[in-house]
Amino acid sequence: MGAACRCEHVPGPHCIAVVGATGHQGGAVVHALVAKGVSVVAITRNPNSKKAQELATLRRVELRKGDLNNQKSLEAAFSGCDGAFVLGTDNRTTGRWKYENMKKQYENCAAALKCIDGMKHVVISATEFLPAQEVFNGKGLPTTYVHTGLNVVNTNFVLKLGDDGHYGFPLPAGNGPIAWTVMKDLGNVVAGVFQRPSMIGQTVGCASFHCTADQLANHMSTAIGMKIKCLKLPAFIWEKVCADVPANFADIANFCQFFGNQEAQKSILATRDLNICKELAGGKLADPVEELRDMHRGVTQAGGCWGRLASKVVRLCAHFRSKVSTA
Ligand SMILES: NC(=O)c1ccc[n+]([C@@H]2O[C@H](COP(=O)([O-])OP(=O)(O)OC[C@H]3O[C@@H](n4cnc5c(N)ncnc54)[C@H](OP(=O)(O)O)[C@@H]3O)[C@@H](O)[C@H]2O)c1
Repeated sequence: MGAACRCEHVPGPHCIAVVGATGHQGGAVVHALVAKGVSVVAITRNPNSKKAQELATLRRVELRKGDLNNQKSLEAAFSGCDGAFVLGTDNRTTGRWKYENMKKQYENCAAALKCIDGMKHVVISATEFLPAQEVFNGKGLPTTYVHTGLNVVNTNFVLKLGDDGHYGFPLPAGNGPIAWTVMKDLGNVVAGVFQRPSMIGQTVGCASFHCTADQLANHMSTAIGMKIKCLKLPAFIWEKVCADVPANFADIANFCQFFGNQEAQKSILATRDLNICKELAGGKLADPVEELRDMHRGVTQAGGCWGRLASKVVRLCAHFRSKVSTA
């Protein structure tokens, strides 16, 4: 399905390129924009993948190939668009996220966007510790930064943690409140920002609710109907857990350390103002229990890669028992 349809009654850009369109953030942005009647160019490295092909079935979505590590490919992908949603997503397959890799990806996006005539609004997904402002500030692009919270999807793996029927989700979190973001809300907030040209030059935080990891575990217990605990792992255990599992797990450690940072917590929560998010999202934010119920529908027991992760977590927790705390 092509992206050529233009809906002139919608304020803001009419054809928006979305980087990371097959992922959590980009996918939510694609759906929110399409729902508002905006045409979307969904950028992916692999237009033949299952997720890309699913996007291609949506009205007003055109798939284009683009790689954050290749500026020329981004120029071709952004061509003809008057808006863009961009993010950096490190290109390693395992191990720790690298600041320099992500900075280079933002630089490629900025350089490619500078080559596009008629770019009205660029929305950049970031957090305070990602190199977005450092790269985009002073480039003369019409930018808004959206600072996300901790993605609730990070808790979507409930593991059987022992033979005693003890279930939980491991997280390298502390005891303080966390700004959590549900991807559907991020999509709606970003779509709301694109409709407000007055937000160019601003930074806005995006969260769906604020609560501690233990409170999230309680929400999850209500949602799933069984007792779920948060297994709060110190960062060094999490790193061992992450050593040979999908790369986004290592990312979670970085984000948890940031969102759980006691000193920064007050300003992180204050900058993810729920009233502002609600307004930008069109008047409604996700309900934690409903969201977690949807997320866990059908998930009863981890298998495959998650099963292996579960055994590893159980083994490491037994080994470092005194350092692990549960709700
Ligand atoms: N975990 C958190 O709580 C959190 C919070 C805030 C921000 N973040 C950051 O936000 C980023 C995006 O998050 P997400 O959850 O949407 O990630 P995700 O679900 O893993 O999606 C990332 C998407 O980016 C695309 N991609 C990967 N490498 C690429 C490259 N070299 N060039 C072009 N596209 C590429 C992939 O699509 P294709 O394979 O189709 O190309 C993938 O679908 C993460 O990398 C993370 O650093 C995470």
